[in-house]
Amino acid sequence: PRTVFSGIQPTGIPHLGNYLGALSNWVQLQSKAEPDDELIFSIVGYHALTLPQDPKALRSSRTDMLAVLLAIGLDPQRSIIFHQDENPHHTELAWILNCLCSVGRLRRMTTWKSRLATSRNVNEESEVDESLLNAGLFTYPVLQAADILLYKATHVPVGEDQKQHLELCRDLADIFNRTFKARNPLFPLPEHIFTPSKRILSLKDPSSKMSKSAPDAQSRILMTDTATQIKSKIKSAVTDSVPGITYDPISRPGTANLLDMFGACTNENPADIAKRYEGKGHGALKVDVADAVEELLKGPRAELERIRQEKGYLLNIAEDGASRARERSEATMREVKIRVGLA
Ligand code: TYM
Repeated sequence: PRTVFSGIQPTGIPHLGNYLGALSNWVQLQSKAEPDDELIFSIVGYHALTLPQDPKALRSSRTDMLAVLLAIGLDPQRSIIFHQDENPHHTELAWILNCLCSVGRLRRMTTWKSRLATSRNVNEESEVDESLLNAGLFTYPVLQAADILLYKATHVPVGEDQKQHLELCRDLADIFNRTFKARNPLFPLPEHIFTPSKRILSLKDPSSKMSKSAPDAQSRILMTDTATQIKSKIKSAVTDSVPGITYDPISRPGTANLLDMFGACTNENPADIAKRYEGKGHGALKVDVADAVEELLKGPRAELERIRQEKGYLLNIAEDGASRARERSEATMREVKIRVGLA
């Protein structure tokens, strides 16, 4: 049997990249799961704290994210859906893994390096770069490894940007297994699961991924966007000036991104779609991509509006999810403590 684990940060309404790259896969895995497969999905509040958060906004994002997960079709009867910050085992295991992880290994993480690069622009002095960033951001991937290993997860559905974090998680599992040998290794080495659209690009800058934190709100489509907003964002998406439509992610990333989104919405191969639009222009393609995205999002959007109002229901689901998660991770935590000599 498989144990599927994944997480998402409660930093606002998810965008189309989150949905096509990860969330839609969670729902698919749930619908294809065998009866003895386990599915565990977490809203990772502690990870969100690595960047400054307004407490009021975080509080509402946290509840909104739970509503989103239910709105897209995750079933709290079938899957464990919970807030990471309501299960203290996550930070407990993270501490132990921190003590097995070299600082050099974390310095090589691309997420850390790109944060450093951003702070370097602000600050010319290279020693002060790191002093601008908090230690939580540095050790973020270790907490992510703890999330996964706590449930001995075997499969982790994520977008491509999480690949290096998954590799670190496997390494930490292996280091733990080898350092604290017993009759059998404690942790399985988890594998990532990608969707075909594992990297959706920014609508304004096709050299970077669609992200929650990009300053230009036109660069991303949110799951709550209306048909009009979707249409206008896609209409103004940056493509290229090559006439006609072809699927070429390397030299025509903006156009390929539209085709990727289209294909993910309609379950078609993007290269096949391109053939249909060969003699047409970007304008025609964009109109149809916007329609396909609207078609995909309208159900979840309406459901989200409904579930968001049901505060009592959401509280119950969160409470139930947290207690099932704690129950589930307790045995791992006990075993970890015994192996390292703390119990
Ligand atoms: P987060 O909250 O940034 O993103 C949630 C999921 O969305 C995927 N994603 C994308 N996929 C395709 N195209 C994009 N433009 C795009 N942007 C985001 C992400 O890959 C992710 O799967 N570190 C994680 C959260 C986390 C986690 C975990 C994930 C914490 N613990 C344990 C898996 C297992 C993160 O920041 O995701």
